[in-house]
Amino acid sequence: MSAPDLVVFHARLVPCAEAEIAMGRVKELQTIDDGALVVAGGRIERIGRTEEVLAQTTLGPDTTLLDAAGRALVPGFVDPHTHALYHGRRIPEMQMRMEGKGYLEILDAGGGIQETVRATASVDDETLTKETRRRIAAAAAYGTTTVEVKTGYGLTPEREMRLLRVLQQVRRRAPVEIYRTFLGLHAWPLGVEDREEHLRAMDGLLSDVKKRDLADAVDVFCEQGVFSADDTRRHLEAARAAGLAIRLHADELRPSDGAELAGEMGALCADHLLAATDEGLRAMAANSVVAVNLPGTAFFLHEQALSAARQREAGVVSALATDHNPGSSPTFSLPMAMALAMHRAGFTPAEALLAATRGSAQALGLQGSRGQIAPGLRADFVLLDDPDYRILMYSFGMNPVHAVYAGGRLIARSGRITEEVQAWIDS
Ligand code: NIG
Ligand code: FE
Repeated sequence: MSAPDLVVFHARLVPCAEAEIAMGRVKELQTIDDGALVVAGGRIERIGRTEEVLAQTTLGPDTTLLDAAGRALVPGFVDPHTHALYHGRRIPEMQMRMEGKGYLEILDAGGGIQETVRATASVDDETLTKETRRRIAAAAAYGTTTVEVKTGYGLTPEREMRLLRVLQQVRRRAPVEIYRTFLGLHAWPLGVEDREEHLRAMDGLLSDVKKRDLADAVDVFCEQGVFSADDTRRHLEAARAAGLAIRLHADELRPSDGAELAGEMGALCADHLLAATDEGLRAMAANSVVAVNLPGTAFFLHEQALSAARQREAGVVSALATDHNPGSSPTFSLPMAMALAMHRAGFTPAEALLAATRGSAQALGLQGSRGQIAPGLRADFVLLDDPDYRILMYSFGMNPVHAVYAGGRLIARSGRITEEVQAWIDS
C-alpha cells in the first residue's frame, strides 16, 4: 500500500455512518472522540482512534500531518438542489412579496423566473460560467463538497440546451463534484402558444441529452398553475426511457399531487413538499423516494417549513438542500439550512446533519461514494470551529466551518476559498 497523502488526527470524528437514516430513529450521532482519518488517492483509507491509527500507518516523506486540535470533523455537505446557473439578482421582488404580492402571482405577471430567464439570455457563456463557478465556490466555503445544479432559466429547447453546454464548461476541472439536472419544465416560455407542441419538443430533447452525456437527471416544477402532475408524469416517463434519473419540485406552495406522483413513479427524490399530503409522504416512503427539505425557501417565502414530525410519521428519508436561486432562496449556506431545519422544522441536530450528508447523497443516488466518513469513500470532509458539531445549528447566519477538503484536497479555510479554487473560477 502506498504512503498516505494526508493524516488528520486529534479530531472529533462524526462519521454519520448510522445504518438507518429514516427520520426519528437517530437522536444522537456516534462519535470517535480523539479520532484520526487517513487519506490516500483522494479516498478515505482508514478511520479510528488517533493512537491506533498512527500506530498502524506508515507515513511517507510527502504525507501531510494535520492536527485538528479537537475540532469536529464531519462529512462534506451534499447540496442536492440548487438553481445556481443564472444571471442577475431579484432584490426588488423580495420587497414586493413583503408588500403582499404572491410568488406565483409575480411569476404569472411575467416576473420571477421569467425575469431571470431574460437576464440569463442577456449575458454570454463566459460570464455565465464564471458567475456560476463563483457561486459554487461560495457554497464550498460553507462546507459543500457535492452540489447539484439545475438548468431551468432557458425554458425553450435552444436555451435549455445552451445552459447544459454552459454547465459542462462550469464542471471542467471543478474542485467539487457537480451533479447536473435538466429542468426544462420550470415555467412556461413566454410567447410560446402551442402547449402540446412545446411539451413534445421538451420530451424529444431527452434522449439526445442522455446520449451526449449532458445531464444526470430530469426535474419538473410540478405545481398548480405551472406544470400539472400529468405533464410531469409524461416528461419524467420520457426521461426514464432515455436512461436519466427522475425527480420533481413537488407541492411547493399548493397541493399538486407531486408527492403522490413521486411515490408512484419511484423518483429518486421529491423536493419542497410544503403543501404535500400525508398520503403523498407515505407513498414516497413506501417507494424509497427521498424527501428533500428546503427550509431556506420556506423562510424566504414566509411559508411554514415541512415538519420533521410529519416526515418521521411517514417514515421517509430526509435530505436537506439550499435551493439556491435568485428568487426564493438566495443563500449558499447548508449550515444555515441545517439551522432552519432544526429551529423551524423540528429536526434534531443529529437529523439535520444526517439529512445534509447521507440523506442528501441518497437524494442524488450517490450514497455509495459520499455523505459519510468511511473507508473507500471520497475524502470529502469538513472541520468545524468547535468540537461539538451542533455549532452548525447554533451559529445561524454565520460560517462555523474551519476548513473544507474535497477529494482529500483543501478547498477552503475560514470562509475563504484557496488560490487553486480561485484559479478554477478564473480559468
Ligand atoms: O425551487 N419553484 C421553482 N423554482 C425555484 C425558484 C426559482 C426562482 O424563483 O427563480 C424554487 O423555489
Ligand atoms: Fe428549486
